[in-house]
Amino acid sequence: PFDAERLNEIIAAHAGKPGALLPILHDVQAEFGMVDDAAVPAIAAALNLSRADVHGVLTFYHDFRRLPAGRTVVKLCSAEACQAAGGRALQAAAKDLLGVPMKGTTGDGAATLEPVYCLGLCSVAPAAMVDGRIHGRLTADRLTAIIEEAMR
Ligand code: FES
Repeated sequence: PFDAERLNEIIAAHAGKPGALLPILHDVQAEFGMVDDAAVPAIAAALNLSRADVHGVLTFYHDFRRLPAGRTVVKLCSAEACQAAGGRALQAAAKDLLGVPMKGTTGDGAATLEPVYCLGLCSVAPAAMVDGRIHGRLTADRLTAIIEEAMR
């Protein structure tokens, strides 16, 4: 979902500057919560890029969301320190609880599960961010309780 007029304002704010693509994509996501594929042609045309170029950047960065997120967003750290500290067990617990794979959204739109690559909490790994709040030293049970609470 996006509003074409607002999209054009965002594009106009950056177009003409070098490296405008990433700031535009970030602003589009901040404004609409995702970067709809339908926004790609306008962005490509404004920056004189091909749609494939824009699409390539959009899919390369994990930060960009191309589908609407669930109401609760669970970001599990999948970087090294957290993996070494039991991150895989957290992933398994979250997948089980929500019934979706990583990057998946539950059918009712209640929650999205996605990886994030280091939350800067390596010293208290394993870590996760649930609806913008960070949590460290997680166990599968604690993570499950936090997600259940967030979804209430
Ligand atoms: Fe997970 Fe840094 S590796 S917080």
